Order: sequence, then structure tokens, then C-alpha cells
Amino acid sequence: MKMIFKSHLLLVLPVCILSLAACNQPAKQSSTSTMTDSTTQATLPAAKGFEQTIDGKQTHYYILKNKNGVQASFTDYGAHLVGLLVPDKAGKLTDVVIGFDSIAGYKASLSAYFGATIGRYGNRIAKGHFVLDGRRYDLFINNKPNTLHGGQKGFNDVVWDAKQISDTTITFTYLSKDGEEGYPGNLDCKVTFELTNDNAVKISYEATTDKHTIINLTNHSYFNLNGAGSGTILDHTVQMDASTYTPIDSTSIPTGKIEPVAGTPFDFTKPATIGSRINDKNEQLKNGTGYDHNFVLDKHDISTPIATVIGDKTGIEMQIFTTEPGLQFYSGNFMKGANTIHGGAKDELRTAFAMETQHYPDSPNKPQFPSTELKPGETYKTVTIYKFSAK
Ligand code: GLA
Repeated sequence: MKMIFKSHLLLVLPVCILSLAACNQPAKQSSTSTMTDSTTQATLPAAKGFEQTIDGKQTHYYILKNKNGVQASFTDYGAHLVGLLVPDKAGKLTDVVIGFDSIAGYKASLSAYFGATIGRYGNRIAKGHFVLDGRRYDLFINNKPNTLHGGQKGFNDVVWDAKQISDTTITFTYLSKDGEEGYPGNLDCKVTFELTNDNAVKISYEATTDKHTIINLTNHSYFNLNGAGSGTILDHTVQMDASTYTPIDSTSIPTGKIEPVAGTPFDFTKPATIGSRINDKNEQLKNGTGYDHNFVLDKHDISTPIATVIGDKTGIEMQIFTTEPGLQFYSGNFMKGANTIHGGAKDELRTAFAMETQHYPDSPNKPQFPSTELKPGETYKTVTIYKFSAK
């Protein structure tokens, strides 16, 4: 089979913690949710809000924990990363992923994709159609006039099959049927999350198809490295190994050009805060309502970080490694305080950012971009790592 490497809280209630004996079993903890203040450790949401029946399937809640006490929680509904507790510079566990206390929270904010696994095609497809082998495929227009993040009912809104392999690893599988959301081919998908002992969340994606199709899987976690509910991310520092990016039109579809970032507010080759240029007079910032653009990564290997983000208050640093060719940096421009997040705060404007590793938006309609096609006999494989430290 041809392999495609698409180039291209330590004091948290012990009851939260899964023992090895409980492997394969959803979490049964019942911690209460409390927001971080300067002294208290953050906690993960309780399991209760994640246990219900959706589309005839029982949903569950899972917790991973590494030897340093770093914890991550998940639900099989949409294979969401719900919460992630990492130590700040003082050692205090901080929840750096914005999440909700229940599936109801995720359902109410579906169009924002908090923490979700995105598919079959992450990001936008212009006007909701593409041509493959001479045949036109029409998709649901859920982000007028385009299709965004899979369509009407993307992978973020289906119940996956979960298997917790160990204290630190969980696998989600989903079979997307031929014709689902208009895409061709039965697509067999597997997403594995591993919480490593060097405090990284490693996400490995794998998929096969029985018909020629397109695929672009990603994770849509919203991060605030100062901790959920700590205010905006405008003073976070970002550095990216991306000397070019794909400018967009007013509907957020790439124009097809790859342009240098030098001399623009998109130049993060040297560290800059998110807020330092976000309000500059710039057509691209206007088109994205801030940063909502695909950065073309200069490096294509998993061994060195392609981006680093630092929370100014906690000193928490997140390094991103990926096999993917692009990074969609979204500065939370459409957040409106409509949702109450874990801990009780609202998701106000720019209180989180996303760094979605992926192929470029609208690749199926842009032959000059790296291909997102997958054929029978091939295996789609990509890896992305979000690694945390603090100083
Ligand atoms: C993606 C898109 C953004 C926005 C968010 C959800 O990151 O690129 O434009 O739609 O999802 O709000």
C-alpha cells in the first residue's frame, strides 16, 4: 500500500484520574468545574455532561494523564479535545484549551468548531463544489457562499468510536460513507491522540478510501495560553516559519497566489504579538476580519517546530510540529461572548486563537496547491504535535 505523507492540574482531584485498569473505559470522575484564579489549579470538566445519546449512539468522556500530571480530556462526540491542563511557569495547572462543560455547549456553538476534529475537508471549498475525474461534486453551503469544515454535519458533529489504549493514548475511528455530505468514497478514518511525557499532544491521522476522493483533516482547538477565561490573546507572542501565505478574497477563499509576508502584518518570521498589527489598515486583515489565513510553512519535517506561541501572563509556550504544508492562524475574530466556556467565562472576541495544521483552503479547486486527493490503495497519514513548556 502506497503511503502518502502529505508533504507536503498536579493537585487535581485524584478522582479525575483514570487508572490503567480502567483503560478502554470512559472516565467516571465527577470533579466540579472551577475557573482558575491566581492561586487555584484548573480542573477538567466532569464526565456527566458528556454522557448522552446522539444519533442513537451513547457518548462518553475520556481523560489522559502523563507522568508529569498533565491531563487532556476528550469526548467521542466529534472527537473533541475538551480540556488540556499544563503547568505554567509557577507550576500551576492551567487549562489552555477552551472547552465546554457538556456536549450541549459544543452543540450550541457548532459553527465555531471548539476543539473539534474537522473533516472530511478542513477549511473552505469555494462555492461548495469541486471536480474530480471529470465529475462535479456539490457540497452543502454552510458558510455562504462556501463550504466550511466538512459541510452541514461535519466530523465534528458525529459520534466516533473511541478506544482508550492506555493512560496516555486514545484512538477515535469513524467511517464516513460514500456520498456523505456530497463527498465520494467510503472514508475510513482514525485519529490517535497521545499525551507524551514531554508534555505534548501528538495527533496522528490516518485514512483510506474505496473511491478517489479529497481529504483534509485537522483539529480545531482554541488555545489561550494564559488559561481559559483570562482575557484576550492579543498579547500572546507568535513566531511562525512561514515566509509566504495565501491571501484571500472577501469570502475567505485563497486568491490562488502565494505571497511573501515580508513587510506585511503577516510577517511572524520573527516573534510578534498577535495584537501588534491586527488593527493595521490592510486589505487582507479586512478580508479575514483579523488573522484567518493559511500560512505556507517553510519546513516540511516533523522534527523541528514550525510555530511557537507564548502566553504573556503564564509563560506557557506552545510549539507546533507538523507534517502538513499549511497552518491556518485564526485569531478568534468571530467570537462574540455568546457561549459560556468551562470555568464560567464567556468566549469574548479574541479570547482564543486556533492554529490549524492542514492543506491549503480550497485546494481541490486550486491545482497549483499541494494535492488533497486520496485514491484507493493509498493511506492518508499526517501528524501534528502541540508541545508545552513554561518559563
Ligand atoms: C475557521 C475559519 C474561520 C471561522 C472559524 C470558526 O477557523 O477559518 O473563518 O469560521 O473556523 O468560527
